[in-house]
Amino acid sequence: MANNSIHGMWSSRLAFILAASGSAVGLGNIWRFPYLASDNGGGAFVLVYLGCILLVGLPIMAAEILMGRHGRMSPVNTLRKLTSEGGHSKGWVVIGWIGMAAAVMILSFYSVVGGWTLHYAWLYVQQLFGGAPITDPGATFGALLASPGTLVFWHSAFMLMTVGVVAMGVEKGLERAVKLLMPLLFLILLGLFAYGVSTGKVGQAFSFLFTPDFSKIDGNVLLAALGQAFFSMSLGMCGIMTYGAYLPRDISIPKVAGTVAIMDTTVALLAGLAIFPVIFAFGLDPAGGGPGLIFTSLPLAFNDMPFGIPYALAFFVLLAVAAWTSSISLLEPPTAFIVEKGKVSRKGAALLAAVGIWALGLLTALGFNVWSSVRVFGRDLQGAVEYIASDLMLPIGGLLIALFAAWVLRKEITRGELSDMGNGGFLVWKILCGVVAPGLVLVILYMKIFG
Ligand code: PFF
Repeated sequence: MANNSIHGMWSSRLAFILAASGSAVGLGNIWRFPYLASDNGGGAFVLVYLGCILLVGLPIMAAEILMGRHGRMSPVNTLRKLTSEGGHSKGWVVIGWIGMAAAVMILSFYSVVGGWTLHYAWLYVQQLFGGAPITDPGATFGALLASPGTLVFWHSAFMLMTVGVVAMGVEKGLERAVKLLMPLLFLILLGLFAYGVSTGKVGQAFSFLFTPDFSKIDGNVLLAALGQAFFSMSLGMCGIMTYGAYLPRDISIPKVAGTVAIMDTTVALLAGLAIFPVIFAFGLDPAGGGPGLIFTSLPLAFNDMPFGIPYALAFFVLLAVAAWTSSISLLEPPTAFIVEKGKVSRKGAALLAAVGIWALGLLTALGFNVWSSVRVFGRDLQGAVEYIASDLMLPIGGLLIALFAAWVLRKEITRGELSDMGNGGFLVWKILCGVVAPGLVLVILYMKIFG
């Protein structure tokens, strides 16, 4: 059992919490959660989502961290180590491969959307200095999607920011970035939330997000909520497992997992309570907004509100920062894997991984324009990559992680890693991870695929 990872180590508990929350809190909370909530019936979706976090997300997060900490390597090699050490079937290594494939696919579209946030931040910087206002947000967003050059430019810029941090290593790159960026993110979010409260519409937003209409819950809502729980907590694709590999042995896994889950959920809800009041205050309709929701509706509001332009700039900087700390965690697993091959330095590995993912991202970027008629599973290219990776691969990866941790790994390992839990707590974790989470994932996947 190695005490240190060859890639580096988090210097403290706080460093891990910031890094893992940085991974969890991202576009998923501020961009994806609000439009999924509004497309899936508001409160009904939120309720199912919270259930998924508690019953599925939290136990699997603990499982990923403990597997990572025991293996101390990139996901594929962590699983190789765990299986060979315990004499388990090598078949389980597929968890690492699914995870890495999902990370690559998610980062490929994540970086394009990260690019949108940079583009919008830039538009508002220009407006601060007298640039033309966005009077028709639908047209502005449409023009962005229609322009391969602009999309690829910002996608490249975002990828460069990501690789710049990852290339510098765990302590000097990842840890330093999150220590700087996460406090900034919370500060901006609180500012935006305070504005939401000042519109007087926070009550309406509250009831939209928290009044469940049970008739709206169907297979699609369940799958969307489950997929979002995995996506938002960065689970099922071994990102948290990789971060767990750098976690010092004396830090309590249940405590850090709980803290990260609370941070992630709080930010999603706060983002909802910052965004929906603005949408309601300006008489906009949140329903059916889809991925464009915040890009097509909020700019209208920004035009009319006092200090709207600096507010808008803060909002898109918030999004960009949140996306940045998440994309770092998506690039880390493939980078660590390449480093472990022993042929290239970390800088070379990060660059190699980034170039490949950047190229894959062109599918998303060009899928909005040049290849807009291409349909996969009835979706455009971005939708298809997102669907396959987040709605299918993450739950399947999570299911396998849960089963492996609860039923295959030897008890000395799981009990040892979760040593500060009482026996009762450990039993609850085991039941959630071994029975409840896999059961829910299976039922929901079955309903989705055959329902
Ligand atoms: N959790 C991130 C978000 O909510 O935006 C997205 C993400 C990051 C998913 C890292 C998966 C991952 F490994």
